[in-house]
Amino acid sequence: MKLLVCGGAGFIGSNFVRLRVRDHGDEVVVLDKLTYAGRRENLADVEHVFVHGAIEDRDKVAEAIEGCEAVVNFAAETHVDRSIAEPDAFVTTHAVGTYVLLEAAREAGVRYLQVSTDEVYGSIAEGSFTEGSPLAPSSPYSATKTGADLLVASYFHTYGLETLICRGSNNYGPYQYPEKLIPLMILNAMHADPLPVYGDGQQVRNWLYVEDFGRGIGHVLAHGRPGEVYNVGGPDECPNLEVVERIIALTGADRELLTYVTDRPGHDRRYSLASEKVRALGWEAQVHFAEGLEQTVAWYRDNPEWWGPIRSGDYRAYYERQYGSQLG
Ligand code: NAD
Ligand code: DAU
Repeated sequence: MKLLVCGGAGFIGSNFVRLRVRDHGDEVVVLDKLTYAGRRENLADVEHVFVHGAIEDRDKVAEAIEGCEAVVNFAAETHVDRSIAEPDAFVTTHAVGTYVLLEAAREAGVRYLQVSTDEVYGSIAEGSFTEGSPLAPSSPYSATKTGADLLVASYFHTYGLETLICRGSNNYGPYQYPEKLIPLMILNAMHADPLPVYGDGQQVRNWLYVEDFGRGIGHVLAHGRPGEVYNVGGPDECPNLEVVERIIALTGADRELLTYVTDRPGHDRRYSLASEKVRALGWEAQVHFAEGLEQTVAWYRDNPEWWGPIRSGDYRAYYERQYGSQLG
């Protein structure tokens, strides 16, 4: 299959491209704007065609989609904290960008898969969200992702475009930019830097190993029913504090590094996805959290040439803005 993968230079996108080329022999065109989170290095070992551009740029999209049989859209601004500080790019990429891609897919007459998130449902105290649960996003990130999902659904209903939506839970694994909980804690623990826990640390996330998400997306792309939404949730839930404690144990860091900092505004307490629908297509998560976290710690330990330039670049300015005075 020849696939257009938008946002393929990011964390989940690059792992997906690797999986498709390695295990399925697909031909892949990557369209990516290379924001701070997108890196060509993430794809250094994978054969692909690269188009540098934004999904809201019609000409670049037209160039990239040429000859492709399906579009998988990972391109997004993905960090909730950044969406609270500066929502602009979230609105442009998720609303305008998704619209431009949908138009191009309609014009080309190809299947379109939108990569979405469990955050569109908001927080759930008990039980799990199904695909029919009401949409109740809390942050500018999740609200604009929800808008994109609704636009995708409208292209199915209005124009009969073959659309699919995959809503994933929290991913972790290799190549994740170290502003997110797990890579940030691993690298800070390795450097004996403070480990900043928001609020009481009892927020619960449903952890999904990145290759399991990629496999789920592949199942939906191949076997999903057009117009449908599929949840892809991880096999294990874990409160943030326990995640950090596990990382302390795996890295041998000092527990004294644990530092409670001001909570995120509008912080969702718990996410949980019911994934029966994607299971019915033959998907099953293969990696449990304990094993996946150990592999992830090992990957960061073994790849300083990947994270070294990030940690010493613009990331420092972001880090100072986000945590500065609270971490001393
Ligand atoms: P990421 O931030 O690591 O990567 C995003 C990629 O999109 C980067 O390569 C970036 O350069 C590119 N990009 C951003 N804006 C663009 C634009 N306007 N045009 C073209 N490219 C652009 O993100 P990620 O964690 O890999 O997430 C990928 C997708 O999966 C997102 O849609 C996200 O909402 C969704 N998702 C993420 C998670 C998670 O836990 N990380 C969970 C569920 C769903
Ligand atoms: O649930 C899926 C979502 O998971 C994706 O849609 C998002 O793109 C992705 O970023 C992720 O969102 P979260 O907000 O859950 O991820 P993050 O890694 O930012 O935070 C995970 C939890 O850890 C959350 O409860 C906030 C907390 N946290 C995070 C950071 C960065 C801390 O306690 N300290 C921190 O320094």
